[in-house]
Amino acid sequence: MFSALPDLPEDAILRLMALYRDDPRPAKLDLGVGVYRDADGRTPVMGAIKAAEQRLCDTQDTKSYVGLLGAPDFAAAITSLVLGDDMAARTACAATPGGTGALHLAAELVAMAAPGAAVWLPDPTWPNHAGILAHCGRSVRHYRHAAPDGRFDAKGMAEDLRAAAPGDVVLLHGCCHNPTGIDPDADEWAALAAGLAERGLLPLVDLAYLGFGAGLAADAAPLRVLAAHCPEMLIAVSCSKTFGVYRDRVGALLAVAPQPATRERTAAALAHLNRLNFSFPPDHGARAVTLVLEDDGLRVQWHDELEAMRRRIAGLRAALAAGLRQAAQTDQFDGIAAQRGMFSRLGLKPEHIRELRDRHAVYLVGDGRINIAGLTDDVIPTLCRQVADVLHR
Ligand code: LMR
Repeated sequence: MFSALPDLPEDAILRLMALYRDDPRPAKLDLGVGVYRDADGRTPVMGAIKAAEQRLCDTQDTKSYVGLLGAPDFAAAITSLVLGDDMAARTACAATPGGTGALHLAAELVAMAAPGAAVWLPDPTWPNHAGILAHCGRSVRHYRHAAPDGRFDAKGMAEDLRAAAPGDVVLLHGCCHNPTGIDPDADEWAALAAGLAERGLLPLVDLAYLGFGAGLAADAAPLRVLAAHCPEMLIAVSCSKTFGVYRDRVGALLAVAPQPATRERTAAALAHLNRLNFSFPPDHGARAVTLVLEDDGLRVQWHDELEAMRRRIAGLRAALAAGLRQAAQTDQFDGIAAQRGMFSRLGLKPEHIRELRDRHAVYLVGDGRINIAGLTDDVIPTLCRQVADVLHR
């Protein structure tokens, strides 16, 4: 039977991780997968999470099942973090295995509620978006996200979404767009939210980098703007980066539904789908996140740690943009400094990306995406020279 399995496309990001791991060159540089790294190249457990896990270990007296939607405390804490206390009362929440689990659940919920609805994705976007949606039988369309001048393409997006039908779903990156680092500004978010509401389009927000853009409050602001305009909305939350709990798989799908009867119906559907997929969502990491959010001291500690990560990335961005300008004698990389989150695209051609890997052991995703958090101040001058080298050969 198994020999009949089809050849499956490899995930570009995960393939790159494997290639990097197998590269014996000592000076290799991994700028591929989106994980935060500190100045020593490590992805440490955040201090606040470690303290919460310690507390959990000391006090937890059972690991019996919780509920199909996860622990209610986690739902309350994560919803209030993302949407604020007022909106929390109008939102159904299901805990999921990471942000990917939340996106998968969103795709299934849409399939159940509106089987004919298309899902519109930004072009470009995280490659797994289209994969998950197609796997769940959704029809996928695309809208322009980034203009040639490196700014958010509000006009292109509005033009492309003219072809959307009422009830279609529009996937948005809440902050720190992956892969470009290009986000709408506050005015653009307000116009976008008003446009979606006017057209009867449902926002599905992928929120995987909360706190890595302009700060926690600023990064959450667009969600509140969308919720103020659009009567219903979905938010796929990932705690992987924001709490550094990557492998523990902590996420949630939030469904804003102001009508109590609709909200109950939605929560029942989310519980049903979780049951069919895996029964109970993972609890350990979600509980550690809840402890951090509920304890004043741990919350301050976590926020300080998150801010330190954000500031480190912003500093690396500035240094990289300046270094590339000097080494490559071009202003084509200047936009990197103003972009946000872990990613930017260097705008290199496939042969440049291949040469960087083959000649210099520098690993970038094939679309030229670079994980800024994979850099250190020490390697930036060398990387800039290597980029200039492949550009000018
Ligand atoms: C990324 O884009 O690199 C991250 O979201 C990790 C992943 O699973 O692809």
